[in-house]
Amino acid sequence: MDLIVAGNRDDLAKARGTGSVALVPTMGALHEGHRSLIRAARVRADQVVVSIFVNPLQFGPNEDFSRYPRTFDADLDVCREEGVHVVFAPSPEDMYRPDRQVSVCAGEMGTIVEGASRPGHFDGVLTVVLKLFNLVRPEVAIFGQKDAQQLAVIRRMVADLDLAVEIVGAPTVREPDGLALSSRNRYLSARDRAVALALSRALRAGAAELTAGAIRSTARAVLDEAGPDLDLDYLALVDPATFKEVDDAYEGSAVLAVAARVGGTRLIDNVVLSLRH
Ligand code: PAJ
Repeated sequence: MDLIVAGNRDDLAKARGTGSVALVPTMGALHEGHRSLIRAARVRADQVVVSIFVNPLQFGPNEDFSRYPRTFDADLDVCREEGVHVVFAPSPEDMYRPDRQVSVCAGEMGTIVEGASRPGHFDGVLTVVLKLFNLVRPEVAIFGQKDAQQLAVIRRMVADLDLAVEIVGAPTVREPDGLALSSRNRYLSARDRAVALALSRALRAGAAELTAGAIRSTARAVLDEAGPDLDLDYLALVDPATFKEVDDAYEGSAVLAVAARVGGTRLIDNVVLSLRH
């Protein structure tokens, strides 16, 4: 079947089939990580809808909205190769009414860890994701563990607002050397890229430890070794559901999350680990 490209909400409504729908929300510049989400979507529903929308609401005033990579034709090729049924690629004008007022607030979870560095970011993410759910009306939606706090706040929105959509988390896809795939990796010079490997190295080293204190200090030591070219934003060991820091008494699954700037590019990564005594 041919890929349907819906450039606005009316075309999207016409493209909807009769079977179940799995939605994969993206901002385009599709890579192997997005492909893995599409594959997870295909086995979960009759029809796969990929949205491609660089959402202005989730970028801060000093962030990279205008220079965010836009590779639409290549993205359509990826979607064709992966058997996507519909690409929904609205314009900002189609998404947002000029006089819009109401938006979703992520609450405290939107203000800590990644949210502390990017005020308003998660409110912008939740607002667009809720709108996409309402426009596409999927039974299931797939999100990457790469953006662990995003996945957590989306699960929280679904629970707190009683949304009728199943959220599926998909594992982080990495380069063979450990670098997590990201649309922003294309900004990295060869030298930056070598420095950036300290993120995944630190997470691996931390994950090999057993206690919260040792996990934090081991990961921190690896990041420090990277020198001044790596500008650390945060290293956090948190509860995956709340994103609050865990203490030494904590048992269960935890997320070790890191964010850093390398040569002007902001990168994030995380691993899920299990803490027990
Ligand atoms: P974007 O950064 O394009 O990511 C789209 C989806 O791909 C997200 O669920 C993200 O977690 C996932 N993803 C990115 N890199 C990945 C990797 N290396 N492995 C596995 N999955 C990966 O996240 C967004 O867009 C936006 O915030 C969005 C949810 C679309 C709302 O605007």
